[in-house]
Amino acid sequence: MDTSIFVSRLQQIGRHFPETPKNLEQPAIRVAVTGAAGQIGSFLCNFIAQGRMFGPYQKVILHLLELPAAEKVLKGLVMELNDGAYDVVQEIIPATDPLVAFKDIDVAVLVGARPRGPGMERSELLQANAKIFQAQGAALDQVAKKSVKVCVVGNPANTNALIASHYAPSIPKENFTALTRLDQSRAESIIAERTKAPVESIKNIFIWGNHSASQYPDTFHATIGDKTLREVVNDDAYLQKDYISKVAKRGAEIISVLGKSSAASAAAAACDHVHDWWYGTKPGQYVSMAVSSDKNTYGVPEGIVYSFPVEIQNGQYRVVDGIAINDFSRAKMDKTGKELIDERKMALGF
Ligand code: NAD
Ligand code: LMR
Repeated sequence: MDTSIFVSRLQQIGRHFPETPKNLEQPAIRVAVTGAAGQIGSFLCNFIAQGRMFGPYQKVILHLLELPAAEKVLKGLVMELNDGAYDVVQEIIPATDPLVAFKDIDVAVLVGARPRGPGMERSELLQANAKIFQAQGAALDQVAKKSVKVCVVGNPANTNALIASHYAPSIPKENFTALTRLDQSRAESIIAERTKAPVESIKNIFIWGNHSASQYPDTFHATIGDKTLREVVNDDAYLQKDYISKVAKRGAEIISVLGKSSAASAAAAACDHVHDWWYGTKPGQYVSMAVSSDKNTYGVPEGIVYSFPVEIQNGQYRVVDGIAINDFSRAKMDKTGKELIDERKMALGF
């Protein structure tokens, strides 16, 4: 593949991959994907192989975990990944045992879990999926690098991240995160469609709280070009009601139209989440990530995994501080936090 064409295309769409082949000199990154043969997993593996997660020059070793029942589909996926002859893929390790799949990994994207069907809330998956994240947390604890960066995608993602972290006491809590980047990209694209502004001109819409219907997409600090988003949209009633509900219920809308949940957009968002965690955010750019609330930032209760705006440098994220919270935002942030406390009680009993 002519990587220069690929890099220039990625730069055109505003991404910020390393521009020189310096990553060729870096050791390969070991990245595990669970549920690799599922809908999201297959897109994700292909996106990683094409350089969307770590850039076109950084080698990766793909550790792919599936249930024994899906071993044949996993084999087919590996065959196709091999046939792609992707430059960045150094090795593929398919496995049905998490202790094999998680050995010495740098990054884990935990996708493997049951998806919801029409009419369900994501929290209804807790009973079915909690066991998976308990077992995978314990396996990460045993064999992954202690520096492993974990991004949970399987629903209910925030509480599954909390469960995995709880069962991995030797890995810092900060290393367990959940995906709310898809909600952020939905929030941006809905505004782009309404205002006809290019999506890349929309900055700093944050998702607070749970990846659920209670999430709060906050537009009070967002900009479109050199104006405030609120000024451009010029419809506070819309932004405070229908818009929030549209973003928060987009997952359900996709399920009602497609008959199954989002896949390519979720995989793209997982790539963006890990990419920015690994390489950092641009100056002034904030991204939404669900992370441990243990520092009680913005009055969010401790002991849950809550989505905040973060900025990232040298592989470490930091919740952005000093954001003014008005009464409207406060009430929304408290409500979604309370839901996460309820989910924690269901999952961990406290
Ligand atoms: P899917 O059913 O197509 O794929 C799930 C895969 O996980 C299957 O191949 C299954 O065999 C595998 N699996 C199940 N248990 C496993 C285990 N213990 N270990 C390894 N693999 C296991 O589902 P999907 O559409 O890919 O969705 C996966 C999850 O992601 C669902 O919970 C869905 O709700 C969630 N999701 C989250 C977001 C988000 O933004 N956080 C977005 C979309 C979907
Ligand atoms: C999504 O937001 O698309 C996923 O969480 C899937 C779902 O159940 O909505």
